[in-house]
Amino acid sequence: VTVDVDAAQKGKAVSPMLYGIFYEDINHAADGGLYAELVRNRSFEDNDKAPEHWKAKGNASLQLISKGLLNKVQGKALEVTFNGDGDGFNNEGYWGIPAVQGRTYKLSFWAKGKLKGKLKAYLSCGCGTKVFASTEFEGKQFSNKWTKYEATLTSKTNHPKALLWFAATGKGKLAFDVVSLMPPTFNNRENGMRPELASMLYDLHPKFFRFPGGCFVEGQQSPDNAFRWERTIGPIEERPGHWNVNWGYRTTDGIGFHEYLQLAEDLGSKPLYVVNVGIWHGGFTPVDSIQPWIDETLNALEYANGPVTSKYGALRAKNGHPAPFNIEYLEIGNENNQPNPREQSDNYYKRFQLFRDAVLAKYPNMHIIGNVASWGTDDPTWDSDEKVELLDEHYYRTPNWFADNFRKYDTYNRQGPDIYVGEYAVTQGFGNVGNLNAALGEAVYMMGMENNSDIVKMASYAPIFANVNETRWRPDMIQFNATRALGTPSYYVQRMMANNVGTRIMAVTQNNPYKVNPDDIKVKPATCAVGVGTWGTNASFEEKALTLEEGATSQPVAKAEVKGTWKKEGNVVKQTSWEEGTVLLNNKLFTSDEYTYKVRARKDKGHEG
Ligand code: AHR
Repeated sequence: VTVDVDAAQKGKAVSPMLYGIFYEDINHAADGGLYAELVRNRSFEDNDKAPEHWKAKGNASLQLISKGLLNKVQGKALEVTFNGDGDGFNNEGYWGIPAVQGRTYKLSFWAKGKLKGKLKAYLSCGCGTKVFASTEFEGKQFSNKWTKYEATLTSKTNHPKALLWFAATGKGKLAFDVVSLMPPTFNNRENGMRPELASMLYDLHPKFFRFPGGCFVEGQQSPDNAFRWERTIGPIEERPGHWNVNWGYRTTDGIGFHEYLQLAEDLGSKPLYVVNVGIWHGGFTPVDSIQPWIDETLNALEYANGPVTSKYGALRAKNGHPAPFNIEYLEIGNENNQPNPREQSDNYYKRFQLFRDAVLAKYPNMHIIGNVASWGTDDPTWDSDEKVELLDEHYYRTPNWFADNFRKYDTYNRQGPDIYVGEYAVTQGFGNVGNLNAALGEAVYMMGMENNSDIVKMASYAPIFANVNETRWRPDMIQFNATRALGTPSYYVQRMMANNVGTRIMAVTQNNPYKVNPDDIKVKPATCAVGVGTWGTNASFEEKALTLEEGATSQPVAKAEVKGTWKKEGNVVKQTSWEEGTVLLNNKLFTSDEYTYKVRARKDKGHEG
C-alpha cells in the first residue's frame, strides 16, 4: 500500500484538548474505588437501624446513637459496650481490606467514653486470630469529650481480605465516629487516591478531567442528593456525605470538590466542572427561583479560581492549596436539555442563559459547555439563539453504530458551536466487561473525531470505573476489586489514541492493490429472524415464531439476563423455558413489571440478522 502525503499542505489542526476523561461516582468509583479509604461506613451513616459492615465480637454490643454526636453534620455514631477482656468489633472494608506486607496504614478515629484496660486496634483475618499489624490505646486516654486518636499500622503479612478490628482488655463503653484507615496514596496526598487506579488515569495523560458526573451531579428525589460542593470540602468529619441515589449507595464525599481539583492537577489535566442547574431526577427548582444554584456555582468558581483574599479563595488556601486551581471549562447541567425529560425540568435554555451570563460576567474567559437537545438521539440539536461555545453530545451504542458513524462530523456546520463528545461507549453487544469488538468500534469513531477535530474539540469515554462487586452500569473501562485492577480493551484504545494523538490532519492519496470491491464479497446468507414477545411477572410468555437454521444460537439484543432453552420444531424455534433475571435495556435498569424483548438469532459469527 502506498500512501502519499503532500507535506506542503497546511492541514487541519487537531485540537490540543481532544482526549480527556469523564469521572463519575458510579459503581463505587469513589468509596471502595479510587478513594483510598479502606473503612466502609466509617461515619455510621449508611443505615438507620444497624451499623452496616461492622460486626461485634465476643460479648460486645454495638448500638447506633443519634445524641451527643461529634458535630452537627454527623447523624449517628457507634456506641460499643465492652463487657470483658477480648470483646470488640470489626469492619469488613469494601469487600475486604488488603493487608500488604510492609505497607503502613494511617488509622484515625474519634471516640469518647470510659474504658478500663486498653483498646487494641489491629488488622487480622476473618476469624481475628492472626494479627497482621496492631497498635494500642490506653483506656485512660479516653474521656467524655470527643477526641481524635491517630496511629499507624504496618502489616507483617499479605492478606487480600483482612478486617480492621478493635478489642478491649477491660470493661467500658465508648462511642466511635469517623473511623478511617488510609493506605499510602497517589502522589502521597492526604485523604488521597488509590495509587494503582489513579496511575491508570495518569497513563491516559488526559487533557481535561470532567467531574463529578453524570447523573451524580443531578442526584435523585431531592436536591440534597445532588452534588453540593460546599458540603464536600474540609476535614472529613465535617462532610455529611449524601445518598448517591442514582447509583444505589451512600457516598462519604471523601473525594470532594477540593480532591477533584487536586486530582486534575496531579493528572496534569484541566478541570472541567459540571454544575447542577437546579434539576435532579424527579424534580427541579422553578427557573425563576434558581439564583441560589447560580450563587452556588459562583462560590465554587471562587473557591477554585479566586484570590486568597476572597472568601472562598481563603478557604481553598486553608484546605492546603493557596494557588488557584484555575477551572477553565464549565458545563451547565448534565443531559438537562430534554424535550420529554425524566427530570421534568423546565426551560433549559433560560437556565443556560442565566448561568452563562452570571459566570462570564465574572470569568470572561471561561469555556462554557451546553447540553444538546436531546442526548438520546443520533442528531442532537441546539434549538435556541443562545450563544454557546461547546455542545456536549453523548452516545451509548453498538460497535457497528460507532464504526458506521466514522464520518458523522464531516458534515457538521463549521459556523456552529464546537463539539465536546462528553460521553461515549459501546454499551450494546459488548460482553459483560467490554471486548475487542467494542473497543474497535470506539477506535474508528475516535479517528472520525480526530479527522474533524477542527470542530470536535474534546471527547471522553464513559464511564471509567466499576467495582466488580457492585456494578450498576456496564461496561466501564477500568474494572477492579480491593486488590486488583484491569483495563478493558476500551481502556487500552483510549490510552493508545491519547498517547499518539497527531497535531495536523493531512489529506492523503492511497494506492492499495489489496482493495476489495464489496460487490465481490460472497457471504452465504443465514436464515435468521427477529422475534418480539412480552414477558410479565406471571411469566406468561407469548412466542413469535422464529425461522432459524438448525444449530443456531440466540441472544437478547438488549443486555437481559433472561436465560432460556430453545428448541427447533420444524422450521420454527421456540423458547421452551426461561428464568427471571435482571433486565438492563440500553444499560439502564428496567424495573417495569413487563417488558418487550427481542431476540437476535445467528447461525455462526459470520451470519447475523
Ligand atoms: O455514564 C453513565 C451515565 O450516562 C451518566 O451518569 C449520564 O450522564 C448518562 O446518562
